[in-house]
Amino acid sequence: MHQIAILGFGTVGSGVAEAISCDQNRIQAALGTEICIKYILDLREFPDHPLGRLVTHDFNDILNDPEVELVAETMGGSHPAYDFSLACLKAGKSVVTSNKEVVASFGPELLEAARQNNVSYLFEASVGGGIPVIRPLINELSVHQVQRISGILNGTTNYILTSMQSHGKDFDSALSEAQKMGYAEANPSADVEGLDAARKIVILAAIAYGRLVSPKDIFCEGITQVKLADLKAAESLGGTIKLIATARQTEQGLLLLVAPHFVPNHSLLSHVEDVFNAVSVRTDVLGEAMFYGAGAGKLPTASAVEADILDIFGGRKANQAALVWERIGRSELTDPDSIRCSWFLSAGEKSCILIDKTREEAVTYGKSIQSGACFRVLD
Ligand code: HSE
Repeated sequence: MHQIAILGFGTVGSGVAEAISCDQNRIQAALGTEICIKYILDLREFPDHPLGRLVTHDFNDILNDPEVELVAETMGGSHPAYDFSLACLKAGKSVVTSNKEVVASFGPELLEAARQNNVSYLFEASVGGGIPVIRPLINELSVHQVQRISGILNGTTNYILTSMQSHGKDFDSALSEAQKMGYAEANPSADVEGLDAARKIVILAAIAYGRLVSPKDIFCEGITQVKLADLKAAESLGGTIKLIATARQTEQGLLLLVAPHFVPNHSLLSHVEDVFNAVSVRTDVLGEAMFYGAGAGKLPTASAVEADILDIFGGRKANQAALVWERIGRSELTDPDSIRCSWFLSAGEKSCILIDKTREEAVTYGKSIQSGACFRVLD
């Protein structure tokens, strides 16, 4: 029997317990043994939950128990999640996590600690909720040259934009629905201002390019300025507006960007609705591949945590080369405003698309037609 502990019994942590319980027979068939949850760390009590008796408030119970082989960190936030994860790795316990904040900020240290202690640190659930996208990037696609990654990486904002466009809902009521369904971050400004998507794209870029940049250093615009009128204007020009996160290598350096984009109807990403996420990866050998699925929510995210647990207990080793990340700073990034691209200018009946312009040129033209806003066009 493999014994594990869950750190944090919120939406994702309780989902991990539920997924393991549902899948126990198939886990037994796959591993030849059961997975047993020995502890749940949380500040709260759960007297009415069947696993409430496993709750401890003392992290040392878990750290000092040699029977606990693996810890699922689903706490959220940087501290104490990072400190607990590091302590577990140093104590010879593997760690799996859904915590993008920790991976995006402390990935290099935690991966190094895992390596030194001959255990694993895996984080499939940190990007794209339940979509298996990190595993293919680390393993199957790792020998390819990744030319570009672009995706819809935040379920809350996609839910809001879809509700606004399809149901004419206003921003606040769409956000409060996403919160009720457990999609949004504890502080939803990380969703709507783009920081959550920024954390996720820096993780994908680190796997693809071996270099991790702080999410705070990348160009990041959220959706708070997107108006219903912009969505309607985009529709009239054969597209929609989506919050897109992109990473690609340019001659000037790594280009990382989170911003609302005009997405033409012929792009698959334009059809990704509600809480769904999608990641398009283009490599030299494969061409384009699209990963699509539920980007947030209890069981979808838990399924990705569970997959990491099964990989570790099943003895599947992640490709270590894709898990060596050098930190880089803002000066090594390409300034997105220096790149010429197509722009959608939202201006009611005068809305239009400009081709091959810098942002400055697009904004200048936009002023001449009283454009309310300009958005990059997804290429
Ligand atoms: N708040 C995140 C989202 C949760 O809406 O996508 C999943 O990371």
